[in-house]
Amino acid sequence: MYDIKNLTLDEKIKLVAGKNNWQLETANGKLPQVFLADGPHGLRKVSVEKLEQGVAEKEATYKTTAMPNICVLSNTWNTEMAYLQGETIADDCLECGADVLLAPGVNIKRTPLCGRNFEYFSEDPYLSGYMAKAFIEGVQSKGVGTSLKHFCCNNREYDRWTRNSEVDERALREIYLPAFEIAVKAEPWTVMCSYNPVNGVYASENKKLLDGVLRGDFGFNGLIMSDWNAVQHSAKAIKNTLDLEMPYRPEAYTEIKQGLDDGYLTEAELDRAVLKVLALIEKAQTSKKEVTTTKEKRHENALEIAREGITLLKNEGGILPLTGGNVFVSGAYAYTTPMGGGGSALALTDYKMKYVYEEINARLGEKGKAYTGKGVVSTSPFTYAWTMKHDLQESYHADTVVLCVGTNDTIESESYDRFSIRLSKQQEEYIKETAKVNENIVVVLFAGSAIDCSPWIDKVKAVVLAGFLGEAGSEAVADILTGKINPSGKLTETYPLCLEDTPTGDTIGTAMGEKYEEGIFVGYRWYDKKQKDALFPFGHGLSYAKFAYSNLEITKFSETDYEISYWITNVSNVDGKEVSQVYIKDILSTLERPEKELKGFAKTYLKAGESKKVSHKLDRRSFAYFMTAIDDWYVENGDFEVLVGASSKDIRLTGKIQINLPKYEQVSSHYTR
Ligand code: BGC
Repeated sequence: MYDIKNLTLDEKIKLVAGKNNWQLETANGKLPQVFLADGPHGLRKVSVEKLEQGVAEKEATYKTTAMPNICVLSNTWNTEMAYLQGETIADDCLECGADVLLAPGVNIKRTPLCGRNFEYFSEDPYLSGYMAKAFIEGVQSKGVGTSLKHFCCNNREYDRWTRNSEVDERALREIYLPAFEIAVKAEPWTVMCSYNPVNGVYASENKKLLDGVLRGDFGFNGLIMSDWNAVQHSAKAIKNTLDLEMPYRPEAYTEIKQGLDDGYLTEAELDRAVLKVLALIEKAQTSKKEVTTTKEKRHENALEIAREGITLLKNEGGILPLTGGNVFVSGAYAYTTPMGGGGSALALTDYKMKYVYEEINARLGEKGKAYTGKGVVSTSPFTYAWTMKHDLQESYHADTVVLCVGTNDTIESESYDRFSIRLSKQQEEYIKETAKVNENIVVVLFAGSAIDCSPWIDKVKAVVLAGFLGEAGSEAVADILTGKINPSGKLTETYPLCLEDTPTGDTIGTAMGEKYEEGIFVGYRWYDKKQKDALFPFGHGLSYAKFAYSNLEITKFSETDYEISYWITNVSNVDGKEVSQVYIKDILSTLERPEKELKGFAKTYLKAGESKKVSHKLDRRSFAYFMTAIDDWYVENGDFEVLVGASSKDIRLTGKIQINLPKYEQVSSHYTR
């Protein structure tokens, strides 16, 4: 539709860099205006007009539906929820005129210190990939584009602009790239490159990754844009096949012009990028757009996802759900719950959240009474002593104490990392002091990444991981605590016993960057290899119901294609949802492999007493590992086990598969003559 021949060289140069922070160039009005906006937890669209009038960014930002953060969405293990989150945000985009949503991010949670973990799905690439794919499909079903980010190996925020990520090829292929590979199947309109260099070359000019892997191997056909100010030299980036530099930078024009004049960059290379920008503009112009939800419905969707992502980590003696009595709600987040982590993904809402205790009261009705105290705020040392004294007194008289603790958008944020994965000293002390006066403590944890709970876990009866729930936080927490909703979230990252147990410990690399020394052993793959216990393993989450697994069946279609099925029965008298997980274990292989790897997952709703059959397909990739010597995925003949579990450490069913591919499909080191 838009012909490159109608553009002058000058217009073409301008088109491959932004017009301002959020908009694309229009080639002197020849092209329609395209608007880009964050992000994964709700639209963050800034009014360019207001900004130009000097209004501060926060005030110039539209108010939107604040959705649960991706860390919560991923704990649902439900691709339908990911689709719903995408669809919901897209309607806000359509109402406010945003064409491309800058989300989702699929960087792997390599260390719990990473400041941006709340925005990412998991330590596991398979789970990250399929959840992100559904999110993208949800957004794009409404005619709004997405930007799959940050490609790739931006696994820390500390000094993210310059620090090199030194990653071996196998870890790249097996851990850091597959989530992109899977999500790209949803055909996101754009992919956003990361800030950091990967193996010495900035992601924005890493031709091997952008063109070789993303376009070549994964078949990505859309536009690749830079993260905001991730371009070091504009001509260099375009030559190395980046398509669009964001945002506007005055030097971009000069650098490209100079590159062309010097013969470093050819006009054909520039045209390649221009054609991608034109194609994006055309998509934005021609896609079918229709708002189908009201503001109220979008809030309901936020609530539905929040409820399903809340994860019950511990429930000793069945203290939950609350059945009545005096429930004292205290702690830093006793009033309203934190919206989300900080930075570009923080959505601003005008929704007026009620206090947690009010929502609990509304659900307990006649059966009990919830009330709150002074709120022990971790960031306020001055009021700390007397509010604590007051609240401890109340705790002594209560039947149950609900302690709302955690982090917030200043502790977990884009641009920097956490220093510790413990709660603040005040919060830890407060939990311990409360335990001295009341033994019925329920901790509700608000955090975007793993928290070291070991200093206090034995002193409390229940732990509910709320995460960052967005605007429906208080309602969702009250629904779970009172049993109105049966919890069904499960962890998508390991909760370690302490920071030192994690693959990267408390180290942050050198001044130049960081060597990914643990290679492919990230997350549960690391704890399995090192035979380390975790406080709560990957995939763990409790329910008020009980589920039994039975009858694993394996049907073979070819040496590497199978269908596996099993039955789950709800053996309790409450309805609930169960997340089942399928792992593959390679019994013996020439190159070292993880103990097991996730290759399937399902969320199944079961009424009390009901049984359902769950099925999964396994294919070549389910058994393969990346062999750098042949530069390809390789399935090595031998024995495999199919492990079906309620968590990575709670395997309920085991089956066997033997693969016998022809000799010529095997590397010869694997067999003898
Ligand atoms: C972030 C991106 C975001 C962009 C625009 C950058 O700082 O890394 O994720 O989309 O800003 O706000």
